[in-house]
Amino acid sequence: MAINNDSERIVSTTEQNEDTRIEYSLRPKTLSEYIGQTNVKENLKVYIEAAKQRGEPLDHVLFYGPPGLGKTTLAGIIANEMSVNIRITSGPAIEKPGDLAALLTNLSQNDILFVDEIHRLSRSVEEILYPAMEDYALDIIIGKGPSARSIRLDLPKFTLIGATTRAGSLAAPLRDRFGIINRLEIYKPEELATIVERSAGILGIGVDSGGAMEIAMRSRGTPRIANRLLKRVRDFAQVDGGGFITRSAAEDALNRLDIDSLGLDAIDKRMLMTVIDYYGGGPVGVETLAATIGEEAGTVEDVYEPYLMQIGFISRTPRGRVVTPAAYEHFGIPFGGSERTEQQKF
Ligand code: ADE
Repeated sequence: MAINNDSERIVSTTEQNEDTRIEYSLRPKTLSEYIGQTNVKENLKVYIEAAKQRGEPLDHVLFYGPPGLGKTTLAGIIANEMSVNIRITSGPAIEKPGDLAALLTNLSQNDILFVDEIHRLSRSVEEILYPAMEDYALDIIIGKGPSARSIRLDLPKFTLIGATTRAGSLAAPLRDRFGIINRLEIYKPEELATIVERSAGILGIGVDSGGAMEIAMRSRGTPRIANRLLKRVRDFAQVDGGGFITRSAAEDALNRLDIDSLGLDAIDKRMLMTVIDYYGGGPVGVETLAATIGEEAGTVEDVYEPYLMQIGFISRTPRGRVVTPAAYEHFGIPFGGSERTEQQKF
């Protein structure tokens, strides 16, 4: 029973077509406009200032953490603060070593190459990247067989910014070549409320602090979701009310979108209820759980679990995933019981 296609969920962290357009206009351009990730921001400010003073490119940067938290945004901000160009690509888009060579040889001094999903680079491409990162050089093999020889091409000094949802799947030699490694954290509701108010200001949407907080609470710690919910709530507020988003207008709209008070949607509920109903609340191995709900284990780990762990509804134990008492309480089921015994419907 495949539960759904993640890209169709309104609470999906995956970038959707509509997001690309609005995310661009909402994207902060400077570190001072960027809300949240305080530690990362403070450290980057120092590294950027130091690199600028020395007239050198920034050291290579790796961002990792769940999707939708602003890795691409931060890369854009770094380029802007360093006053350099940025080329944006992704691991799967660089198919052959030649593709990467073309990207690298087209960079200018101090430019940034941003590689999203960098854990998906192929081995042969990765191997070209090592000397490029370390020595700003490309080793090119010319010819075949016994007469093949390698020549070294100098590259401009550049900064590689890599982003990944899975730092663990990055080859160690690649990880070791990043001087600056930052983990992005799920945002706090107060930070998301500030982001909602900022976005509402840019888009000309009326929202009060209660309305912004209600959207924030249901955005699963993710600005991309907060901005998407803001737009949907505006539609309801416009058609059903005076167009202004108060707490109760936000509550009404989000309830109608089937997003509960903690931002859980039907898929989260089904995943949690699968563990509760079929596996007695766990432990259940992630592979088994993923197979039961018709998903890949990697998707369960990267997309569904981070938020459920953050709010303490699922824990990872050596024997598998366990649903916590807090999750039972949220669904009104006695700890150790199940939906079937309680006749609950989701
Ligand atoms: N829009 C999306 N993410 C943001 C952030 N972290 N700060 C400000 N605006 C944002």
